[in-house]
Amino acid sequence: MSTRLKAGTRHLVRFTLNGRDATGEAEPRLLLSDFLRHIVGASGTHVGCEHGVCGACTVRIDGSAMRACLMLAVQAEGRRIDTVEGLAGADGALAPLQRAFRRHHALQCGFCTPGILMSLAAFLACHPDPGEQAVRELLSGHLCRCTGYTGIVRAALDAAAELRGAAATEAGDV
Ligand code: FES
Ligand code: FES
Repeated sequence: MSTRLKAGTRHLVRFTLNGRDATGEAEPRLLLSDFLRHIVGASGTHVGCEHGVCGACTVRIDGSAMRACLMLAVQAEGRRIDTVEGLAGADGALAPLQRAFRRHHALQCGFCTPGILMSLAAFLACHPDPGEQAVRELLSGHLCRCTGYTGIVRAALDAAAELRGAAATEAGDV
């Protein structure tokens, strides 16, 4: 059954942010992207078009990559949200995807980067051995005005190889 929320009043939203319990108050019309940036302080999530086109605001919700500008903050109630701030380890060590981006110069201004990283993280979790075409298709949902995408594609494929190697080592295959 859907819950009726009152316009103009703030509602408590309880969710998990990067593995930790989090709360914040939001009016029913507040976008999740603005909630994350301005109420919760997770400003690593960027906002470009605010209508689902550029991909800059992409976060993971219950594991799936989603546009935070196409969701309301109150819809985050009880969900697991992962943002770019949660990619690196607790000690600040960069994740394989982030390291690959650095190696391949896959960012310039970096505005598009958090959204692309979150999309790729979700994608590689389901497609550990993607071909270049599949990576390019995924990236077609993200606008990058700087890089020409080549470095991003190389970084994604390189990170996928590193993650496969780590998984094989963990499984005792090598
Ligand atoms: Fe959400 Fe552009 S800001 S897709
Ligand atoms: Fe500048 Fe992608 S690095 S928009």
